[in-house]
Amino acid sequence: MNPIGNTLADSIFTQRQQSLAAALTNSNLYGLILNPGPSLIYLTGLHFHLSERPVLVFFTTQSIPAIVLPELELEKIKNLPYRIQAFPYDEDSTKWGQAFLSAAATTLIGKKRIGMEPRQLRMLEYHLVSDAAPEAKFVSAEDTISILRMYKDASEISLMRDAVNIAQRALEETLPAVKFGMTERELSRELTLQLLKAGCDPELPFDPIVSSGPNGANPHATPSDRKLTPGDLLVIDWGASYMGYFSDITRTFSLGNIEPELTSISQIVFDANEVGRSTAVPGISAEKVDLATRSVIESAGYGEYFTHRTGHGLGMEAHEHPYIRSGNLELLEPGMTFTIEPGIYLPGRNGVRIEDDIVITHSGAESLTNFPREVRQLI
Ligand code: CO
Ligand code: CO
Repeated sequence: MNPIGNTLADSIFTQRQQSLAAALTNSNLYGLILNPGPSLIYLTGLHFHLSERPVLVFFTTQSIPAIVLPELELEKIKNLPYRIQAFPYDEDSTKWGQAFLSAAATTLIGKKRIGMEPRQLRMLEYHLVSDAAPEAKFVSAEDTISILRMYKDASEISLMRDAVNIAQRALEETLPAVKFGMTERELSRELTLQLLKAGCDPELPFDPIVSSGPNGANPHATPSDRKLTPGDLLVIDWGASYMGYFSDITRTFSLGNIEPELTSISQIVFDANEVGRSTAVPGISAEKVDLATRSVIESAGYGEYFTHRTGHGLGMEAHEHPYIRSGNLELLEPGMTFTIEPGIYLPGRNGVRIEDDIVITHSGAESLTNFPREVRQLI
């Protein structure tokens, strides 16, 4: 399957590769090597599973891209809407080095500064390429690539909107099943089923978080066998993947009668989420959005219980640039997509989080998510 190629104008990859060349020049890099993953899909539309057989694409400012790949994958690069040079290898792994050597020689990476992705490239590919170009200097190109991917175009935003709608529909279908005595894991399984039924790609962006009562005080809880109990807050953090783009949403519900303090922190988080969303406009720094959101919770006396950043970029990965946190002076600009997800976590008791997916527009920001945000009583 070639999701993006079917959706976007074919020439989009040529445009992105041209933008990459300009970005590499700005970063004083001659080239970039990528193995399978979101950045490779973004630039080429090529999907490969990471396996024991290495796949590596060489991009440079001077040549057309080169790809080293197993012969059996050659079908995937037929009829691409851009030019690429192939360096296939067969099942004899002693010959893999030769394919890398040819690709390195053709793209002239020899003594140049070459970017790579520290969180993506494995030692397997690194050894093969550095043996093929021992005098090249390999450095992180994480910033160079993340800046390219940070600005979403209209077609990317449309896919993210689809990912949001699938996730919201899935939760709507799931909520009627919620009942006392059901475990978090059971609810999480039902939500996963509904996500797939609603049109989510087979691979979810992340496992849904379903946490109740004291488990909700852990922002990254894993669903457990704890049974839903009257008096609980129920935190559901879930998302869908659609054509490679993600949504990431959190809603909190109450079960039975909850303590007055839980009603109160629910309102505070609701207000903080609203302030966060309305503060996010073009030209403001990511840090200021974090500060504005956080100050609602701090001034209500719960600052120490909001233990994480306000949000993170979202797109082809569940966490990417820009990060909405203190210390990030990056200015928000149209096309940036990220979450606003304030929370209050009372250890040993309960937690609340309300998370929306935002896109910065020319005039302000739009929330792609519109599922009701109020913490309402579900059963
Ligand atoms: Co989330
Ligand atoms: Co998130």
